[in-house]
Amino acid sequence: MTNHARQAPAWLAASQEEIRGLIQIIQAVARGHYSNDVMAFTRPGHSEMIQRVAEAMGMMMVRVEAREVRLEELIAQLQDLNALLRKNITQTVIAVANALGARDRYTEGHALRVSVYAERLARRIGLPEEDVEQIRVGGMLHDIGKIGFSDRMFSSGDFKNCDGILEEIRKHPDIGVDILKQLTFLGPVVDYVHYHHESLDGSGYPVGLTGDEIPLGARIISVADCFDAVTTDRSYRQGRSLEEAFAILRELSGKRLSSELVEAFIEEIREGGMISEAPKGIGFDRDRQIPGLRVRDDPPSNSEPLNGYGESYGKRTPPRRKTV
Ligand SMILES: [Fe+2]
Repeated sequence: MTNHARQAPAWLAASQEEIRGLIQIIQAVARGHYSNDVMAFTRPGHSEMIQRVAEAMGMMMVRVEAREVRLEELIAQLQDLNALLRKNITQTVIAVANALGARDRYTEGHALRVSVYAERLARRIGLPEEDVEQIRVGGMLHDIGKIGFSDRMFSSGDFKNCDGILEEIRKHPDIGVDILKQLTFLGPVVDYVHYHHESLDGSGYPVGLTGDEIPLGARIISVADCFDAVTTDRSYRQGRSLEEAFAILRELSGKRLSSELVEAFIEEIREGGMISEAPKGIGFDRDRQIPGLRVRDDPPSNSEPLNGYGESYGKRTPPRRKTV
């Protein structure tokens, strides 16, 4: 072998230090750490080979970075579209739930009031915004299973003694789950709908959960649901006064409802007032405001007994545990 054959061409000559530096940069890029360090190797003073490799690397990094930026933009667009799709689906389901109002005057606006009360209570006890939002949606959807009620459920005010009526009422949380379970993005909201009639003492339905077995969101909605049930006018009685409603909540405290939640709710209503009515046509997207909702200063008062369907608060049933 001649000396000429053993020697590399001059442009290929590179020091060990140059090669080591370039390899370190390549390894950093492979780990996703982009920098301009490679450009230092394109300057005069380095061997021609090192300069060419560094220039090629620089070009490659610019293109890769441009693709990554474009990819991030596309992911952001997809996330926005996904959020919009979820919101539209949720709005559609809520619109269906609101259609219940066409069958029953009490139900009209009930879901929205429960949603607002539950949201206020969730925020008052300091839950994270994500949880507050899920509880708000749960409040809107909690009675969606009543869509499955027969017409007789909406034909008169007091029919708790009719044959099979309680059995039909007790099915509405399960029916709600059947309606919503395909909407996996709703997450815990489906559980809130399922368990909003469970009681701390196990006397609720449809499962008979006790205490902390009942999701917090469901317990919050339960307090809001109870309050709206007793303060809203029905065809057979006027809504209770604030103080009467608070007394009922406290009577149920520790039995059906969580004591801490009841006290926090009473504080919230004393400070923020109650909702007098929910106008028709309110949508889901309200930018944290509910236009048209008014705080009622002079709630109606009377002392008729509670006997509304579905919200049988105050009725005592022995503790039991049912099977699903
Ligand atoms: Fe319900």
